[in-house]
Amino acid sequence: MAVIAVTKERRAGETRVAAVPETVKKLIAAGFAVTVEAGAGVAASYPDADYATAGATIATTAKDALAKADIVFKVRAPEADEIKALKAGAIVVGMLNPYNERPALDALAKQGATAFSMEFVPRITRAQVMDVLSSQANLAGYRAVIEAAEAYGRALPMMMTAAGTVAAAKVFVMGVGVAGLQAIATARRLGAVVTATDVRPDTKEQVESLGAKFIAVEDEEFKNAQTEGGYAKQMSPEYQAKQAELVSGHIAKQDIVITTALIPGRPAPRLVSAAQVAAMKPGSVIVDLAVEQGGNVEGAKPGEVAVSTNGVKIMGVANLPGRIAADASNLYARNLFAFVGLFLDKEGQFAPNYDDEILAAALVARGGAVVHPSLKG
Ligand code: NAI
Repeated sequence: MAVIAVTKERRAGETRVAAVPETVKKLIAAGFAVTVEAGAGVAASYPDADYATAGATIATTAKDALAKADIVFKVRAPEADEIKALKAGAIVVGMLNPYNERPALDALAKQGATAFSMEFVPRITRAQVMDVLSSQANLAGYRAVIEAAEAYGRALPMMMTAAGTVAAAKVFVMGVGVAGLQAIATARRLGAVVTATDVRPDTKEQVESLGAKFIAVEDEEFKNAQTEGGYAKQMSPEYQAKQAELVSGHIAKQDIVITTALIPGRPAPRLVSAAQVAAMKPGSVIVDLAVEQGGNVEGAKPGEVAVSTNGVKIMGVANLPGRIAADASNLYARNLFAFVGLFLDKEGQFAPNYDDEILAAALVARGGAVVHPSLKG
């Protein structure tokens, strides 16, 4: 019987956990044994007792949990002490952030671990249930609006009161992928007047179907801005200049701006300049979801709220899914449960098929080396 270990996340501010009692129960039903480090789920509101009721063994320390583990579930890359405690040939599964956390990958390889990075799971139909980028981005988009609403000193919905009318807030969402769509939906539910922009033409209909207004430079370059994989291309400086001009006037009238724009493998595109921030009204709020990838907004800093001289709050909230830890953990745990199903053969025996398209794409370290094609050399 293969043993799965779930240890406590050790990064500052990481509140999520890689398994929840519900998925522990399912893992056990699928034939795994599960060991959970004491306190692993506490920050996400999952107490040890619930894991125990689900059938997990509770280990006092990470070292104890890892000693017999064939598979280790993590949210983020394991720390050095955890890596050293892995048994030979253990499989580690997590959001390993491979481009930015190379030392952890090298250490995993050196320890002889097999590592899978969930960010590399391909976005094919069969793998949708394992798509951690979507499950976490969706919650991040929701949470961004909640953070903005909290920081904004006015109401989002229009309110007609005896003392007078409160105007609806104007919310502008820049970048309409998974996070942006959820931000639009959430802001609409709260009664805001929502506009949105993206460089991919497909997003226009999606924005409109959520009851928001689409704003973009719809030229020839825009018509071809989506790659075959469904991602945005890096736009030309000419397009970016036209885009900046179009949104400048618009941003100045907004109360809340939420930016989510990313281009795979590149730093986040700069969408909001200091001059545009300076043109906004005092008390306006900007939430930059791309802050950890370089930021869409000039002046945004990871983990900080910067206030511009004209009183605009620029929120560089780090780890937004961690601020909705119970749900983020639950969805992530379900993603991992589906993924680990690929380790079983038709008879339900533990026998990972490394030729499987999904496993092959997500594999980053094996046999003492970092093996993913995009990470070699
Ligand atoms: P992402 O996180 O890579 O980027 C967020 C958004 O920023 C994208 O919509 C992108 O077009 C936009 N963006 C980039 N540069 C911009 C600029 N200069 N100005 C304005 N917006 C800009 O995107 P995410 O959320 O990962 O989604 C990417 C694609 O993947 C979408 O087409 C989505 O529908 C697709 N997708 C497919 C799935 C599947 O087939 N299983 C699951 C989830 C998403």
